[in-house]
Amino acid sequence: MDIEFIKKYETRAPRYTSYPPANLFNSSVNNDVYKEQITISNSQNPQNISLYVHIPFCPQLCNFCGCTTFFNSDKNRLNRYISALLKEIDTVAALIDKKRYVTQVHWGGGTPNALDFSIIKKVMDKFRSVFNFAPNAEIAMECNPAYMDFADIDNYASVGFNRLSLGIQDFDPVVLKNINRREPKHDVKQLVAYMHSLGMKGINIDLVYGLPGQTPESFTAAAKRAAECDADRIVTFPYAHVPWVKPAQKVLEKLGLPDADQKLHAFVSANQVLTSSGYNFIGMDHYCKPDDALSIAAKNGNLKRNFQGYCTAETTGQVYGFGATSITQLHGGYIQNIKNPDLYIETIENQNLAVERGYILSPSQIIVREAINELMCNGLLDFTQCAHKLGVTPDDVKTATAYDPSKFQTFVHDGILTITDNALTLRPNAFLAVRNIAVLLDPMMKDSEKMYSKTI
Ligand SMILES: C[S@@+](CC[C@H](N)C(=O)[O-])C[C@H]1O[C@@H](n2cnc3c(N)ncnc32)[C@H](O)[C@@H]1O
Ligand code: SF4
Repeated sequence: MDIEFIKKYETRAPRYTSYPPANLFNSSVNNDVYKEQITISNSQNPQNISLYVHIPFCPQLCNFCGCTTFFNSDKNRLNRYISALLKEIDTVAALIDKKRYVTQVHWGGGTPNALDFSIIKKVMDKFRSVFNFAPNAEIAMECNPAYMDFADIDNYASVGFNRLSLGIQDFDPVVLKNINRREPKHDVKQLVAYMHSLGMKGINIDLVYGLPGQTPESFTAAAKRAAECDADRIVTFPYAHVPWVKPAQKVLEKLGLPDADQKLHAFVSANQVLTSSGYNFIGMDHYCKPDDALSIAAKNGNLKRNFQGYCTAETTGQVYGFGATSITQLHGGYIQNIKNPDLYIETIENQNLAVERGYILSPSQIIVREAINELMCNGLLDFTQCAHKLGVTPDDVKTATAYDPSKFQTFVHDGILTITDNALTLRPNAFLAVRNIAVLLDPMMKDSEKMYSKTI
């Protein structure tokens, strides 16, 4: 990992978690469009169903947080939220072909693990009563270990959870205090070991660099400790400072944010620690053990990505989102729910669905999405393979992406990209430049500098 290389390619470009990026979603997508799209999705690929549940509540709000979440102390509001969620699940399930199978469930937030287990069970029971589950479905939850006991892990396992993600951010109590975050209730290494002992796989630890109180050295120590915890996956997110969207983050400026150079050194040094501890860097902040499903998928060139993170072609399907803010991700487009939980509850109570915005893709945009995804996930755009997946010709892919080999010459010259008649291949350790390359395949991208976050 070369600092000069990163500096050269450090750019503002979309992360392409969706195509087009979520800032281009629009309000012409409403409840009726969603119903129509669900029906259409039954005959589109992938046939597998992924379910996403968003719990937009936390018992305490961390001031660095960029997620859509709210402080919640009101039981009545929570009960109404869960009733709305169950109603939304019924409405969507009624439109989904019963021959399709659920291969993935993901609970995100907010802090879903701070909910009473009886609520989690109620929603899981509802899912199982209205959908058919594949026997090996991956069932995952984002957890804050400040609210996690060993008995909770038993409970989660009892309703099928087989993958948990732990938001650690940093192990240092001073950094945690700076971001208004409680320390884990139990030793994280023991929590991970207990999850493994129950047969759970893909256990993940999230870390964030660029927070007040962190130095490159202290963050490297955090990465080392995460590796010692024996997590299967470790993610090092660059802190995204967006005080114009999240005013609570302003407090962090007073405490002193590390500068760009410190962030860069924190990233590079954590990268060295993690790769020398046996983790594979699979791109975009993610490290996995070699025997983890994501490392294997990366090696075989079938890694996928959605709003819930990296996933494999086997587990991920078209994603149906439930709850405020959740994003449904179908072959034909994206559909996002109302963000405000109170308005979400009210709208579901009155209309059964609560869509706020979305984006329906044209046939040509579906091709661009596939091309960019292939490059972003697997470092390879093979025009023939990409065309084959979509039932079009390689020339259709070239036309849709406005492909012009001359645009990529800097990357070829720098030795990070190989171009043949049929494919673009990224050098394996050149992943940090992948957004710069992807943007050149995106005909919608005109003003990338102003709108998107930096890589690090
Ligand atoms: C949606 S949160 C849910 C996790 C859970 N509530 C917790 O705090 O442990 C998922 C992850 O997003 C990351 N995150 C949140 N705000 C961020 C920000 N401003 N910049 C970078 N990463 C952020 C954190 O690493 C967090 O663990
Ligand atoms: S980081 Fe997690 S616990 Fe903290 S406010 Fe965000 S969602 Fe809630």
